Amino acid sequence: MTTELLDRAKSEKIYEESCRVIPKGVNSPVRSFPDLDETPLVVASGSGDQIVDVDGNRYIDFCQSWGALILGHAHPQIVEATQRRIALGSTFGITTEIEAKLAKKVTELVPSIEKVRFVSSGTEACMSAIRLARGFTGRDLILKFVGNYHGHADSLLIQAGSGCLGTSASAGVPEEFVKKTLTLPYNDIEGCHRLFQEYSSQLAAVIVEPIAANMGLVLPKPGFLEMLREESQKIGALLIFDEVITGFRVALGGAQAVYGIKPDLTCLGKIVGGGFPAAAFGGRGEIMDYLAPLGPVYQAGTLSGNPVAMEAGFQTLSLLERPGFYEKLAEKTTAITQPIKDHLVRKGLNACVQECCGLFTLFFGTREVTDLDDCKKLDPDHFRRFFSELFKRGIYLSPSQHESNFISAAHTPDHLAYTRDTIIDVLSAIPAEHF
Ligand SMILES: Cc1ncc(COP(=O)(O)O)c(C=O)c1O
Repeated sequence: MTTELLDRAKSEKIYEESCRVIPKGVNSPVRSFPDLDETPLVVASGSGDQIVDVDGNRYIDFCQSWGALILGHAHPQIVEATQRRIALGSTFGITTEIEAKLAKKVTELVPSIEKVRFVSSGTEACMSAIRLARGFTGRDLILKFVGNYHGHADSLLIQAGSGCLGTSASAGVPEEFVKKTLTLPYNDIEGCHRLFQEYSSQLAAVIVEPIAANMGLVLPKPGFLEMLREESQKIGALLIFDEVITGFRVALGGAQAVYGIKPDLTCLGKIVGGGFPAAAFGGRGEIMDYLAPLGPVYQAGTLSGNPVAMEAGFQTLSLLERPGFYEKLAEKTTAITQPIKDHLVRKGLNACVQECCGLFTLFFGTREVTDLDDCKKLDPDHFRRFFSELFKRGIYLSPSQHESNFISAAHTPDHLAYTRDTIIDVLSAIPAEHF
C-alpha cells in the first residue's frame, strides 16, 4: 500500500467532471464522502485486499464494496468463471440452469429459505419481501427499527440508517406511506411488546437487521430477536430478517444461524452476487408461492437471475463452504479489533469497538452503542480526523462513522498488522482530553 499519499490531481479532476453530469458526482450518496475532508476516491482497479486510485495510490480496503466482496477484489476463480460465462451471452431474460444451482445452494445453506427469488439489488429484495408480506397477510402496517437500513423503497426510507441516517423520512415519500411504517428504537424489547399488542390485527411484518450494520455495527441485545420471533408469530405477522449484510458474512447460515432463529422471510444481497448486481429474498414455501405467476403478489425483473451474477454468486458460496473459512475470518477480525479494544481500555478513552465476524466499527464519544440514540453522542470531528489520518497512510475505512468496516478473506496478516499498528498510533496521537 501507499504509506504516504501521492498527489490526487487526477482523482480531483475526474470527480469535478463527474459532478457536472452526475448529482454530486456519485451514484450513491455516501461515495461523495459527506462530512469528510477528502476528495472522494476515484478507483482504477482492485486486487485482493487493495484498491488503486486513478493517481496510482494504493489503499488497504476495509469497505470491500460495502461488504459484497468477502473474498476480496478480483478473486481469480470468480474472474475466470464469470469470463467463461459472459462469453456465452450476458443476459437472456430467460431461465438459465445456473439460477436453480444457486437457488439450491442458498436453500441448503440457509434452511429457513425453502424457496428463493433473485433480484438485482438489496433494495429490490426488501421492497419485494414487504409487498409479499402484505399480500400474504392481507395487512398493511409494517414495523421497522430506527437506524436500520433496508434500501431506498418508499416504505423503508423512514427513520432509516446508512446515508439516510438522521432524517425521519426522505423527501418524496408520501405521508400516507410514512403512516404505514411504524418505527421503534433498535433493541427496544418493551416498546415491541406494547406495539405488538396495540396493532395485533394490523401488522403485516416486522423487518429487522438481525445484526444492525447501518448505524455502525450494533449487536442485538440478548432476547431481542427471540422476542420478535415469538411475538410476531403470536399475532400472525411475518418476521423478515434483512441479511443483505449479514448473510454469508457472520456465518454460512447468516445471523439467523448465529442466533438460532428462523424468520419467515430473509433478504439477501451483496455476497450472494459475488460482486455483481444480484440479491434475493426467500423463505417459507407457502409464502413464496404467493408470488406471481403462482400467486397474486406481482414481482418481476428484466435482469433478475442474471447468469453472470448467478455464476459469481455460486462460485463465491462454494468457496465460503471450505472448512474453517469463518473461523479464519473471525481470527482476522479480532487480530485488528482486540488490540484496539485493549488500547482504549488501557488509556481509558471514551470510544469503543463493536464487532462480529468480518465486521467492525470504532465509535468515538461513547463506550457502547445499542441504538440510534447512542449514536447521537458520537463525535463526528473525531471520525473525520481519524479517517483522514488513516487515508493518508494508505488505509481506506468505510467513509462514515455510521457504517461498518468489512474484513475479507483476502486481507493479509501483514496488512492487518499494519492497519492495527497505524490505528493505535493515530489514537495515541490524539490527546486523551479530546475523547
Ligand atoms: C441491510 C441492508 N439492506 C438493504 C440494503 C440495500 O441494498 P442495495 O444497496 O443493494 O440496494 C443495504 C445496503 O447497504 C443494507 O445494508
